[in-house]
Amino acid sequence: MSPPIGTTHWPYPRWIAHRGAGKLAPENTLAAFRLGAAHGYRMFECDVKLSADGLPFLLHDATLERTSNGRGSAGGLPWSALSQLDAGSWHSRSHAGEPLPTLQAIAQYCLRNGHQLNIEIKPTPGTEGKTGEVVARSAAQLWQAATVPPLLSSFQPASLEAARTAAPQLPRALLLDTLPPDWLQQAQALDCVAVVCNHALWDAATLAQARGAGLRCLAYTVNDEWAAQRLLDLGIDGIITDRVDLFAPG
Ligand code: G3P
Ligand code: MG
Repeated sequence: MSPPIGTTHWPYPRWIAHRGAGKLAPENTLAAFRLGAAHGYRMFECDVKLSADGLPFLLHDATLERTSNGRGSAGGLPWSALSQLDAGSWHSRSHAGEPLPTLQAIAQYCLRNGHQLNIEIKPTPGTEGKTGEVVARSAAQLWQAATVPPLLSSFQPASLEAARTAAPQLPRALLLDTLPPDWLQQAQALDCVAVVCNHALWDAATLAQARGAGLRCLAYTVNDEWAAQRLLDLGIDGIITDRVDLFAPG
C-alpha cells in the first residue's frame, strides 16, 4: 500500500492543463483533454457540477450560454437535455457538435490513458453540499481500482466537507482566490492535503506557512513565463495553466 497523499507522497505531475487545454479547444470537453494530452500533459483540471437529475458533468459556468448552445441554468436541466447540446461551436467551427462530457466519460478517458485528474467541484449556487457529496461518491466509484485517485478541489468549504463525508479517502484541496486570516485553519479543518491558490498569492512566506501546516502548494492559472518561473523558483508543487502550447510539462 502506498503512503497517504500529502507531504511525503505526491503522485501528481507538476504541470496541469486547465479545463483540458485552456483556450485552444472548447474548455471542459473531451476534445480539450485530447489536445492537452497531445501537448504532453498528463494531468488535467476540470470543473464538475450536477444536472437536475443528479448526474456529474463538466461545465465551468452556472449558466449554459457562454460555452454551449443551451440557455439558462445548467443545473436546471436533466442530463437527457444537456447531452444534446453543442459545446463546441462557440469555440470554433472545427469543434461543432462536441458534447458536454459526463464525469464518467472523462474518468474512462483518463484511466485508459494513465492521466491524472483534478476535479474542481463547481456547484450550481445552492447545491454546494449535494454536489460535493455526489461528485466525491462518483469519483470514488469510478477510480476504485486506480493506483492514483483524483484530487478533489473547491472554492466551497461546504462542498469539500460533503466530499469528505462521502469519500474520506479521496484527497482534497481548498481553492483560494484571496488569503483570509484563517486560510490554513480552513484547509486543515477540512483535512485537505493541498491548497490551490491564485498564483499571485504565493511567495516564500505563504509557501513556508502552507508547508509548515503540512499542505502541498498549487497555483492557478499561470499563463506567463515570468509567473511560471517565479513559482518554480519558489518550489511550487503544481501549476495549472491554459498555455499547453507554451509550457512543456516536465
Ligand atoms: O481549479 C483552478 C481554477 O480552475 C479555478 O478557477 O474559475 O478557472 O475554475 P476557475
Ligand atoms: Mg476550475
